[in-house]
Amino acid sequence: MALERTLSIIKPDAVAKNVVGEIYSRFEKAGLQVVAAKMKHLSRQEAEGFYAVHRERPFFNALVEFMVSGPVMIQVLQGEGAVLKNRELMGATNPKDAASGTIRADFADSIDANAVHGSDSLENAAIEIAYFFPATDVYPR
Ligand code: TYD
Repeated sequence: MALERTLSIIKPDAVAKNVVGEIYSRFEKAGLQVVAAKMKHLSRQEAEGFYAVHRERPFFNALVEFMVSGPVMIQVLQGEGAVLKNRELMGATNPKDAASGTIRADFADSIDANAVHGSDSLENAAIEIAYFFPATDVYPR
């Protein structure tokens, strides 16, 4: 497996629940290293731009509303097969379908407040990382 980087966001619901550290612990125990991180209260424009692929979906406005409802914790995770590994740690989009022991099963309340985001492909990971972090802010450079 190749060394990869992926973008992770701990969403406003999980930040409000004070489980940032518990979620970081899961990343680290799975062999994923935090190589960039920042807490940020997204503007509407930033949230809309980030989720632009979903612009035509019926849930788009609610999703943007939720993502700007409080600060988020944004990080770049690095490790072997990081994209898929992070998706496995997250669990299914709808926490009702998420396998037990996954982040969404343990911390998410609903499909629209589902605790975490993770890039779904290596290609999207590169785009999403660049959306939030200049290359000089990811370590090791
Ligand atoms: P999606 O990219 O399908 O899921 P994932 O986050 O697992 O990659 O959808 C992006 C976000 O949009 C999802 O995390 C929560 C929200 N969403 C809804 O609110 N309702 C829905 O029916 C779907 C599919 C997504």
